[in-house]
Amino acid sequence: MVETHGFTTAPLQATFGAVVTGRRLAEIDEAAFAWLYGVWLDRALLIFPGQHLTREEQVAFARRFGPPEFEIAPLSNVRPDGSVRATAEGDEVVKTLLGNMGWHHDSTYMPVQAKGAVFSAHVVPAEGGETEWADMRAAYDALDPATRAQIEPLSAFHSLRHSQARAGLSPAQGVTPYGFGVDEPPLRPLVKIHPETDRRNLVIGRHAYGVPGLSAERSERLLDELCAFACQPPRVWRHRWTPGDVVVWDNRRLMHRACPWDMTQPRVMHHSRIAGDPASEFAAPAAGAAVAVG
Ligand SMILES: [Fe+2]
Repeated sequence: MVETHGFTTAPLQATFGAVVTGRRLAEIDEAAFAWLYGVWLDRALLIFPGQHLTREEQVAFARRFGPPEFEIAPLSNVRPDGSVRATAEGDEVVKTLLGNMGWHHDSTYMPVQAKGAVFSAHVVPAEGGETEWADMRAAYDALDPATRAQIEPLSAFHSLRHSQARAGLSPAQGVTPYGFGVDEPPLRPLVKIHPETDRRNLVIGRHAYGVPGLSAERSERLLDELCAFACQPPRVWRHRWTPGDVVVWDNRRLMHRACPWDMTQPRVMHHSRIAGDPASEFAAPAAGAAVAVG
């Protein structure tokens, strides 16, 4: 337990993460934020219970970490009229929610991968609907030397079209959800040096496929095996949400996923995505690469 700037921080029982209490995030000054940013780089996931931020306060807090990829969007199975989206049958929103249940980094399928995200809970189901994170820095550190040497020179394409198709969640024809407009998928290294910590991190997850130099089958097996190895204790944390909770995570180090819940129950979360720095998070498409769907 550490107390600074009126905050109390308690590390999670994992290789990353901390619960931070004691201050309203909407009221902290520059010095307190600078300290908090350092803790964030060190722990990668900060959980702030009981904040109850307004939309404006959440956007303002996220902007302190950097410019937005998008300011705030609901991740919700509740329609504007209050009814609940309970099935993926013909429902593009539920397809997105179900896709989020696979391990991923946000926006690796975009030319510039996200830096991080602020995420808050507003309505939560009685059971399930937690969020889990996994530490790709600790995962890299835990790999045996032979595997490290094998993957160091490798890259993978990243595509939301690919990941949603593999999960059986492709959008209906003529529908182009966020991320589906990328025709030439970016090619990202499997091992990437974090621009602010200089530490190596795995960049893998459900959007990754098609490692150049490997057959489709070997590529899929390698990526699946890396993901299964990486996302194990003590490198994972599951957070059970209470309305009012706010978290911020480092998308350059952590993967995350949503846990299933009974979708006849409402779940309303607000997601603010922090843009990656193009100097470090841009990945060029490989000329002529097609999106392999399936
Ligand atoms: Fe996500």
